[in-house]
Amino acid sequence: MRHKNILVLGGSGFVGSALIGKLSSQGRRVRVATRRYEDGRHLILLPTVELVETDINAPGAIAPLLAGIDAVINLVGVLHGGRGQPYGPGFAQAHVEIPRMIADAARAAGVRRLLHVSALGVTDADPAGLPSMYLRSKAAGEQVIRGTRDIDWTIFRPSIVFGAEDRFTRLFARMAKFLPIIPVARGDAQLQPIWVGDVAHAIAATVDAPWANGRCFELAGPEVTTLGAVVEDVVRWSGRRRLVWNLPDDIGRLQAMALEFAPGPTLMTRDNFATLGVPNVASGPIATELGIDPVAMSAVVPEYLAEDDAVYIPRRVRAGR
Ligand SMILES: NC(=O)c1ccc[n+]([C@@H]2O[C@H](COP(=O)([O-])OP(=O)(O)OC[C@H]3O[C@@H](n4cnc5c(N)ncnc54)[C@H](OP(=O)(O)O)[C@@H]3O)[C@@H](O)[C@H]2O)c1
Repeated sequence: MRHKNILVLGGSGFVGSALIGKLSSQGRRVRVATRRYEDGRHLILLPTVELVETDINAPGAIAPLLAGIDAVINLVGVLHGGRGQPYGPGFAQAHVEIPRMIADAARAAGVRRLLHVSALGVTDADPAGLPSMYLRSKAAGEQVIRGTRDIDWTIFRPSIVFGAEDRFTRLFARMAKFLPIIPVARGDAQLQPIWVGDVAHAIAATVDAPWANGRCFELAGPEVTTLGAVVEDVVRWSGRRRLVWNLPDDIGRLQAMALEFAPGPTLMTRDNFATLGVPNVASGPIATELGIDPVAMSAVVPEYLAEDDAVYIPRRVRAGR
């Protein structure tokens, strides 16, 4: 079945912007909900995209968005959600309650197809065993989706995602601009970064695919690396020479705590530090059905960093995310 009309929640962000471009280029009509119209304004330049300002956290807010919709894609996610057990209130809302509200509203509206983005590091085992609030809440969100009756769901677990609008390579490139030494907490953390275009391709490729129903796809790039090695690459690709200092864990944890309480946008928290303790590496090659030959960082990051200048600020950073 061709799902022509798609509702994307959490679509104003980094992954959403790439995905919505892809869906639009496939000729689909895409409705995007955002809490701040300004944050999604770049999307209305795309043909077939409708941007709706609404707070999907409000009771009953999702149902009207589903009018005429064939499939829903949930990209809502946060990196910082306060503290609590088993997770802070921001994580509970974004990663568990919103998926629950989406699944319930879709089911009530008779919209059967639901695609949901989780994160690599989540396992099918008991979420309580996961070391961070981010991962525990993502796991609980997956359980909500899997447990909803009458829904054809597909779950994606991406590793860290890179691309011109990311906050990952951009942050370290900006640090390299101003700091002689770049201190990196959890420099030995294992990652398998994936290009945002590949993530968008994977999700778009499964919207109409019956073979993807009830399946969970890990999305990871062609190389397993470490955070410290990525920072060294980013510094080099930025055309600079800087010392990258992989902090011992005790100091890295203190740095994370200091950054958690620092004023301004949160760069890192103790929970992020805990998340990085889990290898962010896929259990095997990317599923061939997705039709992706994953792009390496070296193929795209040097290019967009070369276009960088002192005033480049990704949209998502301007939006305070
Ligand atoms: N980027 C990565 O490296 C990465 C890696 C693994 C998994 N993921 C997952 O991929 C998804 C997309 O990530 P991204 O990097 O595109 O994130 P992003 O740029 O930060 O965008 C997140 C989106 O979530 C929405 N959102 C956040 N909290 C919300 C709340 N309480 N209520 C309603 N909407 C809320 C925002 O919508 P508004 O427009 O309303 O602000 C925004 O559009 C997330 O689920 C993330 O966890 C990302």
